[in-house]
Amino acid sequence: MKLGVCYYPEHWPERQWAEDAARMKALGLSLVRIGEFAWSRIEPQPGQYDWDWLDRAIATLAQAGLEICLGTPTATPPKWLIDAHPDILPCDAHGRPRTFGSRRHYSFSSKTYRRESARIVEAMAQRYGSHPAVTWWQTDNEYGCHNTVESNDPDARAAFRAWLADLYGEIGALNAAWGTVFWSQEYRSFDEVDPPLATVTEPNPSHVLDWRCFSSDQVADYNAMQVEILRRYAPNATLTHNFMGHFTEFDHYPVGAQVDVSTWDSYPLGFLEQAWWDNQTKLTHMRTGHPDFAAFHHDLYRGTGRGRFGVMEQQPGPVNWARYNPAPLPGMVRLWSLEAYAHGAELVSYFRWRQAPFAQEQMHAGLNRPDLSPDIASAEAAAVIEDMATFGAPASPQKAKVALVYDYESHWVIETQPQGKSFWHQELVFLFYTALRRFGLDVDIIPIDADFSGYDLITVPCQPMLNGGDVTRLIESGAQVLFGPRTGSKTHTLQIADGLAPGSLKKALPITIPRVESLRPGHVEQANGFTISRWLEHVESDLEPLWRLKSGHGLCYQSGAITYLNAWPDTALLEALTARLLTAKGLPAAILPEGLRVRRRGDLTFVFNYGSKMQDISGLFEGECIRGDTMLAPAGVTVFRQS
Ligand code: GAL
Repeated sequence: MKLGVCYYPEHWPERQWAEDAARMKALGLSLVRIGEFAWSRIEPQPGQYDWDWLDRAIATLAQAGLEICLGTPTATPPKWLIDAHPDILPCDAHGRPRTFGSRRHYSFSSKTYRRESARIVEAMAQRYGSHPAVTWWQTDNEYGCHNTVESNDPDARAAFRAWLADLYGEIGALNAAWGTVFWSQEYRSFDEVDPPLATVTEPNPSHVLDWRCFSSDQVADYNAMQVEILRRYAPNATLTHNFMGHFTEFDHYPVGAQVDVSTWDSYPLGFLEQAWWDNQTKLTHMRTGHPDFAAFHHDLYRGTGRGRFGVMEQQPGPVNWARYNPAPLPGMVRLWSLEAYAHGAELVSYFRWRQAPFAQEQMHAGLNRPDLSPDIASAEAAAVIEDMATFGAPASPQKAKVALVYDYESHWVIETQPQGKSFWHQELVFLFYTALRRFGLDVDIIPIDADFSGYDLITVPCQPMLNGGDVTRLIESGAQVLFGPRTGSKTHTLQIADGLAPGSLKKALPITIPRVESLRPGHVEQANGFTISRWLEHVESDLEPLWRLKSGHGLCYQSGAITYLNAWPDTALLEALTARLLTAKGLPAAILPEGLRVRRRGDLTFVFNYGSKMQDISGLFEGECIRGDTMLAPAGVTVFRQS
């Protein structure tokens, strides 16, 4: 695993560069990402490129023995370009342009911007594509950040209509698929269809879903354009895009498949603060991040595309953009880095080399302080280098025994028709993932069309659109399969499943769900020590449920290796179900001590303490302790090697 850093030579006087490069090298870093926001310096005037400074910056880094990841600068089109072509700007729900003055001010559908992006990417790729030190390229930066996947601009509207015409062929098919006879919404031609963004009340859900699929496709098309150019000029380079955490606005699987390595930007404290967890959970983890947050994304991004992943931006200290921005517990930057290693990462790159004294991110920590001296995270990065030196050659990540199916379209379906304020798809997925991790299991996060063979347990937390072929493949995998609520409840155009929910799952599990109810906060139902809240599906079936709620409703149905959970579970229920399915496969089912998490890579077992207490882990794990101690302190990492 390489350690790297994000660096902005254009922010610092040139006399500083050589010393910076030498210090990066001395620290043990090997890859420096530059350039991704530098368009106004690369092309200060239309068509006039200034490569000299970038040539010198690259040469300075290369001379110090560093490799470079060059970012295409398309997340920040310069002012002159926007003034010349205002049609680049993304538009809000009402079609009003968003303005210049921050970043990501472009529409993925803008024809002008596709052309201008291709031009700047080609110019950069021509100049540096064969440079021996430029070994990685990053396309753009964080697609979709700041709500930029959807845009109601004229090019997007035209492209959406063409996309629909392509999908449905004739307008009658669209009307039937969407059910537009409802509320007199029938269309006579594709040209009459607008984005479903500023309607008086709830727009047609099938229309919304198609709009979201279309908008997602635009991101993949845009990335494909950049990838095609980069592959032409830099055929040997490693291509990546840096994805985000908790980000569901576009389907990451197709974009991940286009690049070589899916990287992501890991800000465990910032994301904890911005996410759904309650105040107590946020207080508990405010200096460590949620114990499953980084792991979830490592597993997710390893599963997008080609199985190769890394962290392009690692939080090094307090960030500036969350509601509250605490400092990590000393040791956490090291822990997060080693956790990425344990999950199979090829890269951990810290954001950023030095805290900037100016502009939007002046309150965001770096490896160095604005006064040039090292900040706390520098020493932790150095410790990671020392740690890795004791691991030997890293094993390539192996397939796990347990998988969780994650699907972006399912997320959009639930967001489009939540049917209850507290039914939050991402949170439900996370509950399932956490349950697996509490048993110390290594997990693969995979798409619904993945190869299911070889898994012992597959959890499908919520998959409203599930086709019969996928059900068959899941059954044939031989795994125990746990399905969560709302699975199989919809057709692929977002109508109620034929014969009612769980639709295609009925062939494996003879149940019918005639009614669902969302439950307001404060109302809970209980069975066997488990507590149900938020969501309950009434089930008709000749099968006996695994448990019965005090209200009389059945809870959880099982037939052979298929288990269906018909409610929003608490932790105890998910853990009981997981234990039951692991036992059915003859696998051990012991819960880890509070705050501990485990991940294996090759013959190494990594144990991480996300909790607030010292933990005695002697006797819990096999192998020789090669790093750390069996008394594991908060923010500590202990590594065992299997003989
Ligand atoms: C990321 C972004 C970086 C920087 C960073 C600050 O989302 O890619 O450019 O803004 O956040 O935490």
